[in-house]
Amino acid sequence: MVRIAPKAIPLSGPIGGTPEQEDYLEKVVKEFTITPNYLEKICARFMSEMTKGLDNEGQTLAMIPSYVEGRLTGQEKGHFLALDLGGTNLRVVLVTLEGDGKYKTKSSKSRVTDELKTGPMRDLCDYIADCVDEFLIEEGLSNAETTLFLGYTFSFPVLQSRINRGLLKSWTKGFNCSGAVGKDPVMLLQDSLLRKNVPIKVAALVNDAVGTLLSNAYQKPETSVGLILGTGSNGGYIEKMERIGKWKGGETTSDEMIINMEFGAFDNERVVLPVTQYDNKVDRLSINPHCQIYEKMISGMYLGEVTRNVLLDMIDRELLFGPDNGNYDLKAFSTELSGHYAFETSHMSTIEADGSPDLTRTKEVLDLNLNLRDINTVESKIIKRVCEVVGTRAAHLAGAAIAGIVRHCEISPEEGTDVGIDGSLYEFYPSFEDRIYEALAILLPDHKDVRKTVRLGLAKDGSGVGAALTACVAAQMESRKKGTIA
Ligand code: BGC
Repeated sequence: MVRIAPKAIPLSGPIGGTPEQEDYLEKVVKEFTITPNYLEKICARFMSEMTKGLDNEGQTLAMIPSYVEGRLTGQEKGHFLALDLGGTNLRVVLVTLEGDGKYKTKSSKSRVTDELKTGPMRDLCDYIADCVDEFLIEEGLSNAETTLFLGYTFSFPVLQSRINRGLLKSWTKGFNCSGAVGKDPVMLLQDSLLRKNVPIKVAALVNDAVGTLLSNAYQKPETSVGLILGTGSNGGYIEKMERIGKWKGGETTSDEMIINMEFGAFDNERVVLPVTQYDNKVDRLSINPHCQIYEKMISGMYLGEVTRNVLLDMIDRELLFGPDNGNYDLKAFSTELSGHYAFETSHMSTIEADGSPDLTRTKEVLDLNLNLRDINTVESKIIKRVCEVVGTRAAHLAGAAIAGIVRHCEISPEEGTDVGIDGSLYEFYPSFEDRIYEALAILLPDHKDVRKTVRLGLAKDGSGVGAALTACVAAQMESRKKGTIA
């Protein structure tokens, strides 16, 4: 999909509303704007939390060693299966690594229903095993002579104890299956696969941020950071073993390891994040209140909901869809807009991309999806402005995390780095990348041409290909331990 540059209404300045509307909007803009000084404060705290998490267990930034050691060469080869669970869909991918940074994929996608997301873990694992089985049959691999190796991208906080072992710390992003927290997701899945006679060995367990780093590195060896900016948010980066003070995993085959930061939980204590009343409302009514506060201010699952809360507040104050406007009852009491999570982040994308003078597309989106008819241009501008401030804050906060990593790793402008990013927000949300760069320019003043030295890039399919690469790395590490690879 082509990214559309929005012809944005400037983030400040009147939109042609009543004095009350203008005043209120100005207040909202102020609440959501992070000044450069404050952004610096957030970044500094992010860095000190990184160090705390590297030195001690049980910190807010969990900084989980991924057991993926060393770097890729781009020459890795072989057929691997990958499984990607963690967003809206479950994907099974057959990845053929061809070397020279090239690969081919074939995949199938199935929806994970809310019932599966919140039911017993055994049901979810059985469903996954069925999807893998169907995929193998379709691809003519069900009677393969050898057991295929599978990399499992399980995009939740897991405390790893080996490359294919770990314990689930907690659920995020609307998942809440019973019988999973404190257990090993690999064992639970392997159990279902065995019970259903699916000939697969789960060889690697990988977080999507780690997988994204790997998949980007396969093509761009100068990658040291991977990020997810989609339904949820997280980051992974390559750390020196000597800086992982809490490491008790014994000898490693390399002096570097990828860290799964689990940065969605950053500042759960709320020391520094500018949490607004609208964020609090989203948090309180979520499946995991008081957890993942940074993620709730950054990611696709929540931005629409934050925006909806601002709009509802304006409606309740009769500053939006007031009694003097057409279809008052229908709009102000819209059952659609009253629905939890009804205003999707994808609507924000479309609205932000709407550059027409009377915001025709915005009106269409609101009509089609939320049954809001006869929205006038001022109302549309208000809605667009709210989307802009919520979206801009998200991108600036994501930028603070990237800058924190770059500064922590002391990546100089001469050295530079590639940053692989996967996720719908980064891929589709207009201006998200430009806004991240705005924050980077503030926080990395040494990087005079920051676009050239901190090279953000879409790592499409990052988590799928990354899981296959992790399975490959697992095999290599195994051979290195046995002394068969130098
Ligand atoms: C999870 C992370 C994951 C991120 C992006 C968060 O909710 O805790 O493990 O990487 O979402 O999918």
